[in-house]
Amino acid sequence: MINDRFITYFRENCFQNNEIELQQFLTEIQKPILRTIRIKPEKVEQVRKNLESDGWILTPTPIDRVFAMDRRADFDPLERRLGFSSDHLVGNFYIQELAAAHPVDILANSQISEDHFLILDMAASPGGKTTQLAEYYPNSFIIANDPTRERLPQLLQNLERMGSANTWITLYPGQLYRHHSEIFDRVLLDAPCSGEGTLFKGTDAVKHWHLKNIKEIARLQTKLLDAALHTLKVGGEMIYSTCSLNLIENEWVLQAMTEKYGDAFEIIFQKKFWPHIDGTGGFFVAKIRKLRSLWIKNESNENDETGEKSWKKSEPKFQITNNKDLKLWRGNISPWQPQSGVTLYEHTGKILSVQSDETGSRVRDSVFLMRYGEQIGVVDHGRFIASNRAWRYLDMTDIPIYILSDEKELDGYLRGEPISSSGSDEYILISYDEQVLGLEYRKSDIVSNTFSHEWRRK
Ligand SMILES: C[S@@+](CC[C@H](N)C(=O)[O-])C[C@H]1O[C@@H](n2cnc3c(N)ncnc32)[C@H](O)[C@@H]1O
Repeated sequence: MINDRFITYFRENCFQNNEIELQQFLTEIQKPILRTIRIKPEKVEQVRKNLESDGWILTPTPIDRVFAMDRRADFDPLERRLGFSSDHLVGNFYIQELAAAHPVDILANSQISEDHFLILDMAASPGGKTTQLAEYYPNSFIIANDPTRERLPQLLQNLERMGSANTWITLYPGQLYRHHSEIFDRVLLDAPCSGEGTLFKGTDAVKHWHLKNIKEIARLQTKLLDAALHTLKVGGEMIYSTCSLNLIENEWVLQAMTEKYGDAFEIIFQKKFWPHIDGTGGFFVAKIRKLRSLWIKNESNENDETGEKSWKKSEPKFQITNNKDLKLWRGNISPWQPQSGVTLYEHTGKILSVQSDETGSRVRDSVFLMRYGEQIGVVDHGRFIASNRAWRYLDMTDIPIYILSDEKELDGYLRGEPISSSGSDEYILISYDEQVLGLEYRKSDIVSNTFSHEWRRK
């Protein structure tokens, strides 16, 4: 439901009283939009083939590897839910709205980067863009930050499903990163917002729309953008994005920073995605390049002639906490070895797999990490016990493979049913259609099923 204050604001501030365009906007903003998925770079052919044989029609969009999804006439919806397809469950694709896929694509200039960057995703949950950052920046290290604890389980699940050994989680209010000066090569600030652009999902984001609330959100957004600019290195680039369309949360937030920091940064790209023009959800994206350190105007010296003394550099004040229980793991994981680029850590008995650790070590001791890399097993009395997803990070070339024979057996595995298979007691990989689904242990001819409870078909 759309309230009158919202309509009046957009009529006067965005459509200059053009009643026809306003009505188009109001109609389109509420319509459901095409569902889109983002497929992992190395999985595009496999996922297309599998989903097409399940009755889906995939159409390319302006973003590489993002496809619009439609259903063939003979589609059987119950059996073919996208979220329960094996490719989704093992993290080969992410269901992501097209407009929401733009910020990271724009940050990376639509290219997969070879760089070893340190990247901050300042408002990360539920992780759609974090997992996209990991795809565009495979050699980089990403901090996924979000202070909202209720959203943490979803972030964790998405990171684990998609594979994210180069991602850590922190739970700070993003404003605190302000005191961690000039650390990050890239920053994504997909800011908390009023959500005007998400009405297509059936949300009631504008039911209680009020200028007072919008201004309140914009105050937080301004603080977050200020912090993002501080923590970005000189020469670094960042994205400021929201899923709202009013000026106050978007153009005015950028304007406030320009007034405060002058030519310390430049806006190198800016676009608002309108439902009635772009056919997407509503979205705003600005790409910013930092040109020099930020200096704050010192009001007492404002009239200084040279201007030299009237700016003072902000002091770094980030609170230092340590992750003292985190130790490099040099113990045995026999008979396997970590894959190249993987470093193993031990934290309270858990073995964690970390990629791009060297880049990450630039901040590891200065922020309190909620999660470091991805758990691949535990140590019990000095013995390594591998978990279901260890195959992603350990070299397991010699291990026996159990190939699920048909869709029925696949369905059973994805629902958590154990498998009967005669053979010696040992670890085996479970696979279907050339896709590894998990690592299991066979004992007395029964293969365990440790496929994650969160992702099981229900
Ligand atoms: C638009 S959502 C982010 C969506 C996410 N980037 C994605 O693509 O899946 C905004 C997020 O900002 C978080 N948030 C709220 N207050 C914040 C703050 N002070 N600092 C950082 N993040 C905050 C919310 O918890 C929410 O998860």
